[in-house]
Amino acid sequence: MVVLEEIEQVRAGFLKYTREAFLKLPCLENPRILDIGCGSGVPTIELAKLSGGEVTGIDIDQSCIDEFNRKLKEENLANRVEALKLSLYEMKFPDETFDVVWSEGVVGNIGFETSLKEWRRLLKHNGYLVIHYQVNRVADVLPRLPQLGYSLADTVLLPEDAWWTEFYEPIEEKMETLLHKYRDNADALKLLEQYKNERDMVKRNSSNFICAFYIMKKV
Ligand SMILES: C[S@@+](CC[C@H](N)C(=O)[O-])C[C@H]1O[C@@H](n2cnc3c(N)ncnc32)[C@H](O)[C@@H]1O
Repeated sequence: MVVLEEIEQVRAGFLKYTREAFLKLPCLENPRILDIGCGSGVPTIELAKLSGGEVTGIDIDQSCIDEFNRKLKEENLANRVEALKLSLYEMKFPDETFDVVWSEGVVGNIGFETSLKEWRRLLKHNGYLVIHYQVNRVADVLPRLPQLGYSLADTVLLPEDAWWTEFYEPIEEKMETLLHKYRDNADALKLLEQYKNERDMVKRNSSNFICAFYIMKKV
């Protein structure tokens, strides 16, 4: 999938929630962090800056990884941040590698409960799993966190209309300009079409898109 700078700028507006969630973690010294489904690294780079640690981002999309690597060079972060083209279904990291496993916007693919089960082994003892996901998709799982080997350390609830007012609406405002600018770029037009469909979905059913960061401690 092509990466468009205008969308990246809008996405960056959400970093304030990534920051808020990260700051809920206890102070970790040079932590090892894994960001699953990192895209072009918008949250991953923020996590690297906030933590001062070693960060690995994985994503299946080569264009995202290429853009991520470009930013790492630009920001002089390539010595402690790596971008890997890898599917979340094929992670072979040894057990207990990471202090923090982070994921924004990809858990829908695998499911909340499955991600908790499969990613637990990657965490060090007392490590943290932080997932940004839809509130209505986790309600049945949260009461069973202890059975799944976690305790809920904290939650950052986004404003009810955050995805609409801070993401889809600003994109909508730019849409005509973007469609014109990228009129000869088939990949960009495909991506913009995808955003239009998502926007319609969010507009129709906004209560489904109330999201939160769930900060879960491995116990
Ligand atoms: C909505 S984007 C979120 C990107 C980034 N986490 C962010 O918040 O900006 C979802 C990302 O998950 C990636 N993805 C989808 N399926 C994946 C898989 N099986 N393994 C790894 N990444 C995947 C997509 O390529 C895409 O970059």
